Amino acid sequence: MTAAVGIGYRDCMTYTNAQRDFRDKDTAYAELVSELTGLIGGERDAIANAANSAALLFDALPEVNWVGYYFLRDGELVVGPFQGKPACVRIAMGAGVCGTAAQRRQTLIVEDVQNFPGHIVCDPASRSEIVVPLVAGQRLLGVLDLDSPRPGRFDAADARGLERLARRLVPAIAAAGSDAAE
Ligand code: SME
Repeated sequence: MTAAVGIGYRDCMTYTNAQRDFRDKDTAYAELVSELTGLIGGERDAIANAANSAALLFDALPEVNWVGYYFLRDGELVVGPFQGKPACVRIAMGAGVCGTAAQRRQTLIVEDVQNFPGHIVCDPASRSEIVVPLVAGQRLLGVLDLDSPRPGRFDAADARGLERLARRLVPAIAAAGSDAAE
């Protein structure tokens, strides 16, 4: 059940899958934070870390069809590394679930995207969504966005777990959010 992620990724060790039992979400997310720490290692390249962390989450989390980043660039969100179907490239601050979470700088859980006014449809299979803002000090870097084909897939335990992951991710991807003035 526990994956042997953690050492040697700079040297291209083979990844063993991170899928786990998410019935105890707090424990599973705590394990994922450890795996993420190993996966990042001492790597400082933001794109590498964003790409590998999106892949880790997409592989580890059950019932997700899109996991990835939107980074703040010149006042709008621009898609970054992700796993899933091709997605809309630019999202205005305040627009959709991502832009709303970014503007409020608050995690947003949407139980049914069809009931969220202004929801931006990328993959029509998506039925629920969680968006976690990524903030370094006062600076908004962007958001981490996860979609699920199951309505009500994300709850407060997911928000807690993903916020813990985000705290670990922020220093590893800080260079990817380029709006220093935001
Ligand atoms: N649904 C998002 C758009 C991004 S995709 O889900 C990948 C939104 O409403 O902001």
